[in-house]
Amino acid sequence: MRPRRFRPAGSLRGEIRVPGDKSISHRSIMLGALAVGETRVTGLLEGEDVLATAAAMRAMGATVERSDIGEWSVHGVGVGSLLQPEAPLDMGNSGTSTRLLMGLVASHAISATFIGDASLSKRPMGRVMEPLGLMGAAFEASEGGRLPLTVRGAFPAVPIEYRLPVASAQVKSAILLAGLNTPGVTTVIEPVPTRDHSERMLRGFGAQLSVDEVKGERVIRLHGEAELKPQVIEVPGDPSSAAFFIVAALVVPGSKLLVRNVGLNPTRAGLIEVLRDMGGRIEEVDRREVGGEPVADLLVSHSALTGITVDPAVAPSMIDEFPVFFVAAALAEGRTVTSGLDELRVKESDRLSVMAAALAAAGARVSESEDGLTIDGTGGEPLAGTDGAIATHLDHRIAMSMAVAGLASVRGVEVDDTRPIATSFPLFEELLAKATDSEAAQ
Ligand code: S3P
Repeated sequence: MRPRRFRPAGSLRGEIRVPGDKSISHRSIMLGALAVGETRVTGLLEGEDVLATAAAMRAMGATVERSDIGEWSVHGVGVGSLLQPEAPLDMGNSGTSTRLLMGLVASHAISATFIGDASLSKRPMGRVMEPLGLMGAAFEASEGGRLPLTVRGAFPAVPIEYRLPVASAQVKSAILLAGLNTPGVTTVIEPVPTRDHSERMLRGFGAQLSVDEVKGERVIRLHGEAELKPQVIEVPGDPSSAAFFIVAALVVPGSKLLVRNVGLNPTRAGLIEVLRDMGGRIEEVDRREVGGEPVADLLVSHSALTGITVDPAVAPSMIDEFPVFFVAAALAEGRTVTSGLDELRVKESDRLSVMAAALAAAGARVSESEDGLTIDGTGGEPLAGTDGAIATHLDHRIAMSMAVAGLASVRGVEVDDTRPIATSFPLFEELLAKATDSEAAQ
């Protein structure tokens, strides 16, 4: 455990640059490992989760090498040629690595055992086992469909048409990745759109993939036995990492922070819209395209926020941002109501109950329902702060969200363990120090 008290440190000024997008970084390595030839990646997120993906792809035959900060090269083995890993694949804390790689293994003539930390070992894998089982893969899982878990791939696998019962980009992506080495057309139907990085990147790598709107649903079709061509990829900045700095600058008086390199893919940008609806001043500067994704620098100024009822339909486009959104709500004027957030209970921790307890310990007025939180904000007054440490349950986003709460508190907020932050944002504490260092700021 590495505890730390995050104390008020004055306003956030100057500028910071957010690290590469985690979802895109995972996929760059996986798809690079399935292309024949060299894929070069810049701006790769070097967090523990992505490093777990890199290690797994090496264990299955790809050459994955780092040449400089964020600069990586991947020599792929080709679709259909993944090798049998000799040892269990250690996924650490990473649900994305696990679920997407289960998809890859499912249609190769190999088997692989997945293991992970205490948080990952509690998370449900049945949601990917079900469709991958229909494609022919076999599983030996721990109780409740959890890790440790062994996947025996089917070769040849059977193409399926599958309507997602939960709004999950991980489940969608696992099926599409399995579809790459499956003869025929694999179809995924999404009643509710989720992040579309897999679709964009599969197309970029030369897979035959179509997306159609049919009766309000997204129908994604992938032609199997694909041949992927290596790519040069520039990974845009991660909006989910930017979120902590956006909220911090909105709630700490006197702040004016330029957050550079924020990915604004519409399937990820829900938080910014909701914060603007609450009165948050977030200006886009220099909108551009990076790696086929919309990106901008965001100039964020301290703002008086007003509570809001969040439409559950926007949830998938801000699914990872709710912990820090709840912090913004705790400092807004009036009541914020959220619902339809059952998925938050199966993230790295149960983010509804863990955030309810953490914010209450910091002096916020919060009540928890089955599928959301209701928060009565302070109207801009700082939170009291915590006496003891709040429990983060191995969840990086809880630690970073409560760090932001500490900046807007009287006594500070103590977080029991900051180590999990390195899974997605190794430079978080450094950037926070930079943004709050008034001498360095203009
Ligand atoms: C991710 C999808 C989301 C998200 C996770 C990354 C991805 O999970 O929470 O951090 O890269 O596909 P779900 O698909 O389970 O919602």
